[in-house]
Amino acid sequence: MNVREMQDEILRIKKEQNTCILAHAYQAREIIEIADFVGDSFGLSVEASKTDAKTVIMCGVRFMAETVKILSPDKKVILSAPNAGCPMAEQIRPEEVMKLKKQYPDAKVVAYINTTSELKTVCDVCVTSASALKIVESLPEKNILFIPDINLGTYIADKLPEKNVIRINGGCPYHSSVTRDEALAVKAAHPAAKLLVHPECRKEIVELADFIGSTTAIIKYAKESDAKEFIIGTELSIAEYLQYELPEKRFYPLSAKLVCSEMKLTTLPDVFLCLKGMAGEEIILDAETAEKAKKCIDEMLRLG
Ligand code: 13P
Ligand code: SF4
Repeated sequence: MNVREMQDEILRIKKEQNTCILAHAYQAREIIEIADFVGDSFGLSVEASKTDAKTVIMCGVRFMAETVKILSPDKKVILSAPNAGCPMAEQIRPEEVMKLKKQYPDAKVVAYINTTSELKTVCDVCVTSASALKIVESLPEKNILFIPDINLGTYIADKLPEKNVIRINGGCPYHSSVTRDEALAVKAAHPAAKLLVHPECRKEIVELADFIGSTTAIIKYAKESDAKEFIIGTELSIAEYLQYELPEKRFYPLSAKLVCSEMKLTTLPDVFLCLKGMAGEEIILDAETAEKAKKCIDEMLRLG
């Protein structure tokens, strides 16, 4: 089968089975094209909870599939590439969070959605890059224990000086690898381009940006802006995605290092085989973990 034949088969089988395919915007183009929904981590789980499909295939990383399962416990949720896990989600263990809670007893524990469901059970509220500022701002507590992304935490701390944002030393290995010198060199090469940056990047990069936002916010900004050229400061696939969506504009990646190898583990044949029951892993969460983690996600939905 060639790519197009396999895509056609996937579209046929998923319709026949009433299966919903979710693709994070970092997925490869051939997967984006067969997905029912494409978006950021938060948008996808909301879409999944609204669909009437009984089975959902998540093309992304494990914490995303877990979030879908928590919000849609009656659905069968399949992670297309079982070994796809966000390294940031594993950076801190629940016991360490418990220790920090003892150290800062009056702090609200805010977890980035890029965390395991186990970790969410010991946190108060989740945030995504799209909702983090709004949610932290709305909390009555001054002291915020923000885990695990130090860069997103610093971005929030700088925007909300009235809050005391306590951070740990976690973060995305790809976004945080970009250096100021690299960013300055790309800006110099494309002086008319707007620099759009994900807040998982270091402060020194965020400071150079014309716009800072989540995957979806970056895509929206590029679509609505009058500018013709953009440097995309997030995973490489977003520059490619935008180049397909807006062929009359130009998109340059901020750095060739911005490749999330975990997000790239899903292939089109994986999705095909998932539909045939020959690949993927069904997400099963124990009832207590799911229930406790859901509180943290529900609080995000309530405040966001
Ligand atoms: P978004 O919530 O912006 O999709 O980010 C998820 C992620 O993993 C970014 O690296
Ligand atoms: Fe995790 Fe970074 Fe990959 Fe996003 S890009 S899934 S934060 S490792």
